[in-house]
Amino acid sequence: MAEILTPMDIDEETGDHGNNHYQRPNKGKNVVVADTKATPWVEKYRPLSLADVAAHRDIVDTIDRLTSENRLPHLLLYGPPGTGKTSTILAVARKLYGAQYHNMILELNASDDRGIEVVRQQIQDFASTQSFSFGAKSQVKLVLLDEADAMTKDAQFALRRVIEKYTKNARFALICNHVNKIIPALQSRCTRFRFAPLDPDHVDQRLKHVIESERLDVTDSGLAALVRLSNGDMRKALNILQVLR
Ligand SMILES: Nc1ncnc2c1ncn2[C@@H]1O[C@H](COP(=O)(O)OP(=O)(O)OP(=O)(O)O)[C@@H](O)[C@H]1O
Ligand SMILES: [Mg+2]
Repeated sequence: MAEILTPMDIDEETGDHGNNHYQRPNKGKNVVVADTKATPWVEKYRPLSLADVAAHRDIVDTIDRLTSENRLPHLLLYGPPGTGKTSTILAVARKLYGAQYHNMILELNASDDRGIEVVRQQIQDFASTQSFSFGAKSQVKLVLLDEADAMTKDAQFALRRVIEKYTKNARFALICNHVNKIIPALQSRCTRFRFAPLDPDHVDQRLKHVIESERLDVTDSGLAALVRLSNGDMRKALNILQVLR
């Protein structure tokens, strides 16, 4: 099937930024809500289970099946912001580990300025201890490397070895926006899934759900404008909705 490229398709070739310290855009992850008691809706309405993840049915079903069959590969999830990559991995972790999930997942910002040595040490500390908390059988742990595209090439080569070393105990999930910044050697160790911008129908449905839950009064034309403005970025849609409420 042909893919329609939109401005949201930012994972294609984008040229080199020249150095590894380019400014990363604030993607609205740290949204400040005027009413300090209010939880940001992006968190309040984050899908808890794989079934709650909107769109990406084929991807989610595949990951769901692999998880059920205990055959989860290393993953590389890529695509534009606010499309459900982090949410999907966290839902996988909940499915695998239930209430134990905080002990079984290591969330690292791969672009950590302290470098690969710190990342390597944290992974080693985490992955080298086996967990037998699920009866006699030990379970693999999950290492989540967010913003993997901000890692230097050297760090990525180092990570390749780390992945190999701990494959017995851990599965790695690399998440990024720009897949072309991930070295082929790492890509080939992972099963890749591309998260496209959400189509307007899915954004519309999800927003309607939130509008109903929050008892908001939003006109049809207001909703349509918001869907258009969000451009397939569900985080953006929710942040705007919350600010405008
Ligand atoms: N497919 C989706 N279904 C339902 N909600 C979604 C989906 N994608 C994003 N959201 C909403 O947007 C928020 C941000 O999503 P998430 O953190 O999964 O994005 P991401 O793809 O990891 O983005 P980034 O590349 O910026 O890290 C979620 O908390 C959720 O509220
Ligand atoms: Mg994310």
